[in-house]
Amino acid sequence: MADAPHVVAIPGSLREASHTRDALREAIRGVEGAGGTGELLDPREYDLPLLNTDDDPAEGVDAFTAAVREADAVLLGTPMYHGSYSGVLKNALDHCGFDEFENKTVGLLAVSGGAFPITALEHLRSVCRALNAWVLPHQAAVPRAHGAFEDGEFVDEKAAERVRVLGRRTVQYANIEPDPACFESEQNVGAKGTGD
Ligand SMILES: Cc1cc2nc3c(=O)[nH]c(=O)nc-3n(C[C@H](O)[C@H](O)[C@H](O)COP(=O)(O)O)c2cc1C
Repeated sequence: MADAPHVVAIPGSLREASHTRDALREAIRGVEGAGGTGELLDPREYDLPLLNTDDDPAEGVDAFTAAVREADAVLLGTPMYHGSYSGVLKNALDHCGFDEFENKTVGLLAVSGGAFPITALEHLRSVCRALNAWVLPHQAAVPRAHGAFEDGEFVDEKAAERVRVLGRRTVQYANIEPDPACFESEQNVGAKGTGD
């Protein structure tokens, strides 16, 4: 039998009591429930400077991108910031590229202080398509996040289950072979497009 799919979950918040991280932990329970292995890839534990394409990647960047590359699937979690996903997550993604994401299964999760963070999910979906990742149709949104958790755990079992389903789907579709490459990815020259 093939190895259990390995899923890394990247949270886009650096906040100590981050609800994005809380929600990703629940998604990892879904991963494990479906027979996969899950790992929180916390940007706080890596040296991920703001991307400057003049610089060679720092050691922390190499360790981070290697962990993403080696994963069978990726969960991206973001807080909604000004109607979109966070700069922390964008910077982490900018350090990655086709080597990390092409043909990779990706699940999306977003939390917000207010209404459903749909635009954050849509913007992330566009970025993943540009990287030619395969984005799960199922996505998880956690609105009014400050009342949705108690001691880091979901208060509402229905919300928790929706998030666990996301984790389960990443395992279920971890080895899917996407076909064909999307239009955005064919137009995307990636980091090679800096012109130097
Ligand atoms: C800079 C900033 C912008 C935000 N913009 C929005 C927003 O547009 N819509 C919304 O519902 N919540 C917004 N929020 C609230 C966050 O989405 C909410 O506090 C969320 O729980 C933060 O994620 P975290 O708990 O993982 O840090 C914003 C918060 C910050 C700090």
